[in-house]
Amino acid sequence: MSQTKGLEGVVATTSSVSSIIDDVLTYRGYNIDDLANYASFEEVIYLLWNGKLPNETELSAFKKDLTAVSSVPDEVLNQLKTIPIGDVHPMAALRTAVSNLALFDDEADQQDEEANRRKALKLQAQMATIVTAFARIRKGKEPVAPKEDLSFAGNFLYMLNGEEPDETSEKAFNKALVLHADHELNASTFTARVCVATLSDIYSGVTSAIGALKGPLHGGANEQVMAMLSEIGSLEHAESYIKDALNRKVKIMGFGHRVYKNGDPRAKHLREMSRQLTEITGESKWYDMSVKIDEIVTNEKGLLPNVDFYSASVYHSLGIDHDIFTPIFAVSRVSGWIAHILEQYENNRLIRPRAEYVGADKQDWIPIDERP
Ligand code: ACO
Repeated sequence: MSQTKGLEGVVATTSSVSSIIDDVLTYRGYNIDDLANYASFEEVIYLLWNGKLPNETELSAFKKDLTAVSSVPDEVLNQLKTIPIGDVHPMAALRTAVSNLALFDDEADQQDEEANRRKALKLQAQMATIVTAFARIRKGKEPVAPKEDLSFAGNFLYMLNGEEPDETSEKAFNKALVLHADHELNASTFTARVCVATLSDIYSGVTSAIGALKGPLHGGANEQVMAMLSEIGSLEHAESYIKDALNRKVKIMGFGHRVYKNGDPRAKHLREMSRQLTEITGESKWYDMSVKIDEIVTNEKGLLPNVDFYSASVYHSLGIDHDIFTPIFAVSRVSGWIAHILEQYENNRLIRPRAEYVGADKQDWIPIDERP
């Protein structure tokens, strides 16, 4: 038996949801650059789940359906209120709340396509409600209900801050959601697919995926990038900080990728958004530092920024708490997880690879009183 560490290069399934071919990312065949420039996040969710872009009637019905199921059961909200303030990462709160949602959904274990699509809508809408509610509850504020006439992006910022966002913020946030929606067989999507391939339910699949996304080698990197930028503090400290970190073989968060070798096509969109937003907030130091770090890491290590690097200064400029960055990633990526979960159910087989055994040879049993 041969094995590849971290399953590098292993093709584990077929999928028609998204592709990365020659460093070009597409969702259902649409280039990410076009989607980032033109699509609303709602259009992208529809595209991922249905394989085609919605027409106007379909889009407006879909938006209504999403808003209609955005309230979470009181029991789930009340549980969020019991979490000790300051001690719990919002990704842990989200993971628990999503698992909790299943307990209050009569259809949680129903596996037919219609029931799965109803659960998909609820998960997509309610994860945004949960993340924004938790962000407020831990500051002693009441959750804010969504407005019917706002976009998904607009509603998220409205539920987070209690006031409607300006157009620039809404557009930027929409673009960030579009860019994070799906990414072929990334770690959290693979986790979701492995989970539901046992014919477990969609809530279990999404709960598992949130757990995988939480780690700093995956979605957790965006929060770590902001922690690094804050620690560096100013442009003049960037070079010495990064060179020292590289000398000590410390990984620079937001750089490198398992699949892209010539750069992540999402990064340029986030870089431009970071430039624009930091100029508006009058804090271009975050952009300037990011560009400097980008130059150094590229020159010294040949590593390019991934989706997480510039998204940190984008979310910071939108006034979002740093530990909400990864939950936002989840609020977007659940659209992709669901598309993959539905695809897995359609053509399922248990996912069960093998391990090459490298442990001890045949051992003789030793009674407990004779063991050293
Ligand atoms: N900073 C410094 N060195 C790095 C970095 C980095 N960000 N990424 C990789 N390297 C180095 C490794 O130390 C290793 O060097 P070595 O061969 O001298 O030991 C070499 O490049 C290969 O790195 P691996 O970790 O084996 O690459 P892998 O494909 O397994 O990992 C990953 C990809 C996890 C993204 C990695 O680049 C990394 O840890 N980056 C930082 C975390 C990050 O930004 N994660 C977000 C990824 S995108 C996403 O999930 C949304």
